[in-house]
Amino acid sequence: MNNIHEKGVVILDFGSQYTQLIARRVREQNVHSEILPPETSLDEILNRAPAALILSGGPSSIFGNEAPLFDESILDADLPILGICYGLQLLAHHYGGAVVSTGQGEYGSAEIELDDNSGLFFNVPSTSKVWMSHMDRISKIPDGWHTLAHSSNDVVGAIANEDQTRVATQFHPEVAHTEEGQTILHNFLFTVANCAPTWTAGNFIDQQIELIRKQVGEGKVLVGVSGGVDSTVVAALLYKAIGDQSTAVLIDHGLLRKNEGRDCVNALKTGLGVNINMFDESDIFLSKLEGVTDPEKKRKIIGNQFIYSFDRIAGEIGDMQFLAQGTLYPDVIESGVSKGKTAHVIKSHHNVGGLPDDMTFKLVEPLRELFKDEVRNVGRELGLPESLIERHPFPGPGLAVRIIGEITEERIQILQDADQVYMDILHEDGLYNDIWQAFSVLIPVQTVGVMGDQRTYENLLGIRAVTSTDGMTADWYRMPAETLSKISNRIVNSVPGINRVVYDITSKPPGTIEWE
Ligand code: XMP
Repeated sequence: MNNIHEKGVVILDFGSQYTQLIARRVREQNVHSEILPPETSLDEILNRAPAALILSGGPSSIFGNEAPLFDESILDADLPILGICYGLQLLAHHYGGAVVSTGQGEYGSAEIELDDNSGLFFNVPSTSKVWMSHMDRISKIPDGWHTLAHSSNDVVGAIANEDQTRVATQFHPEVAHTEEGQTILHNFLFTVANCAPTWTAGNFIDQQIELIRKQVGEGKVLVGVSGGVDSTVVAALLYKAIGDQSTAVLIDHGLLRKNEGRDCVNALKTGLGVNINMFDESDIFLSKLEGVTDPEKKRKIIGNQFIYSFDRIAGEIGDMQFLAQGTLYPDVIESGVSKGKTAHVIKSHHNVGGLPDDMTFKLVEPLRELFKDEVRNVGRELGLPESLIERHPFPGPGLAVRIIGEITEERIQILQDADQVYMDILHEDGLYNDIWQAFSVLIPVQTVGVMGDQRTYENLLGIRAVTSTDGMTADWYRMPAETLSKISNRIVNSVPGINRVVYDITSKPPGTIEWE
């Protein structure tokens, strides 16, 4: 079996907003990448036997007091290094060049012209657009180094030492606005360095099967499935690794999208043979939510009841030593990086699926190394249907935070029906995959309308669609007018209880994605 970590890349994170993007771009070329904090020692890096090192950008100035401390011997390591932005300045300074703060930064698109089209810039046109985001710049390149490219603003765009074992760009090759970014990264990985393209979904699955079998032995594993792509992939992977030693459960709290639970169970059970059962707990959840309108109370009630239900069901199934969860790489990085920091809580996220403190399960987390797009590739490779793989993220408390005000069975049904029409049309018009998250919101306001000769006095429905990369910031999706019109017409004509539709054009910030 191929070793998927072999000859990969270590990325030292100096705090750039783009560090995860670097890691993803490297992996898109089937090379393993791992993000480590700047204080990681050279020994720790060498222990991982990477084929190359990338120094990320960062918000600091190399002269500032807040510049992250790091092991400077790394810069002399016997490894090819690519410095990006701040990383370029570190290399230039270390090797005797000069970096200056002019007080004037450069942000956004710029054009570069090549001075040397070998190595890092092999197969790159002589001029191309790049993405800049820096305050400081190089005023003198180190002795023995040369310029690979300069920008139209007369900024040094890229430099290298004599044999290009040290290369650096002032711009960001990882950002999509850098036209030739993928070619430049490809050249670094396979021409400058000697990386191995072994990071593929197929190899990942083979490796995980081995690891899961080793971890679990003869033990039994419980898999909590939510209907979303991550937990569904975990269930499919566990089944492939250990068959019926794994049991998957999906708790239906009655606030899923229409048919969502059923579709997920069918895909796993009928499609792949996974041993999965759905437990309809909706009566208990809805009775606890009766009369509750405060969003945070809704979240708490659902989160707590989820724990009670899960605990009871796990007890009924009995004899399980392991619990499999869909933890992803960004969660792993986040918990490492933000240790000790406190973040202001805007919404008490991720409370659903939280588990009792006294549970004695050992955890199986086969997706810990993956980004979301990689989870999707693994899901495809495992044979899950595209409809499930491309599904937009869905909050744990489900429709509870999309029904503003009181939750009743009737209001859940109105929202489920309207949302289904909305999703159908996004698929019909080929827009679903351009959108990061789309959903409908039932607003507790009634408005007057006219249908035929009849006056109506019915509910108002909000529809929302956003583009985003991680949900932290988002922009409202510029939905074509014809699609909006089709959505509004079909919903008002086919969903009893809705007589008016509005489209939300708020970005995040200042709004949040969900309404509650
Ligand atoms: P907001 O509304 O905070 O949402 O901009 C950002 C992302 O988080 C999801 N979200 C939740 N997910 N439990 C979850 O598991 C929650 O309580 C919750 N609230 C919001 C939201 O759908 C979006 O993807």
